Amino acid sequence: MSTSTNQNRKPVRILTAMPSDTNPDGDIFGGWLLGQMDLAAGAVTKRRAGGRTVTVAVEGFKFMAPVKVGDEVVIYADIKREGTTSMSVMVCTYALAGCTGVETKVCEAMYVFVHIGDDGRPLPLPVT
Ligand SMILES: CC(C)(COP(=O)(O)OP(=O)(O)OC[C@H]1O[C@@H](n2cnc3c(N)ncnc32)[C@H](O)[C@@H]1OP(=O)(O)O)[C@@H](O)C(=O)NCCC(=O)NCCS
Repeated sequence: MSTSTNQNRKPVRILTAMPSDTNPDGDIFGGWLLGQMDLAAGAVTKRRAGGRTVTVAVEGFKFMAPVKVGDEVVIYADIKREGTTSMSVMVCTYALAGCTGVETKVCEAMYVFVHIGDDGRPLPLPVT
């Protein structure tokens, strides 16, 4: 189990894992985490593109440790690669249990987003 304090990084999203986010066994549902991470990556890519972006792929999703009800869920997202219209965003999620102050890495994945226009077709990223 890896841990990190991530003291100098700014999370994109911070949430609390609620009972409504569990699967039928009472554990936090992986699909909920995947969706929250998708929203985090989407926020970062929309800001970069200055317009609409969509998820085209999610690569290498790994769940390293469980998330418990009541955990604070902290999501970081960084653009690692830019193509003509696409961006690869590394999304790492940590769980903060109780008052320990220690973030435990619970999952990570590379999300690929594409900048699209009003017609839903790929649009080149603006030059920075
Ligand atoms: C995203 C979408 C517009 C791309 O259309 P497309 O016809 O595949 O476009 P292209 O083949 O020109 O590829 C566009 C870019 O996406 C990348 N790409 C396409 N499929 C990919 C995949 N499976 N994995 C990684 N990158 C991919 C291409 O490499 C290209 O990148 P670049 O411009 O930086 O070189 C289209 O696939 C789509 O609408 N998908 C559904 C998106 C969606 O609804 N997401 C939410 C799901 S609920």
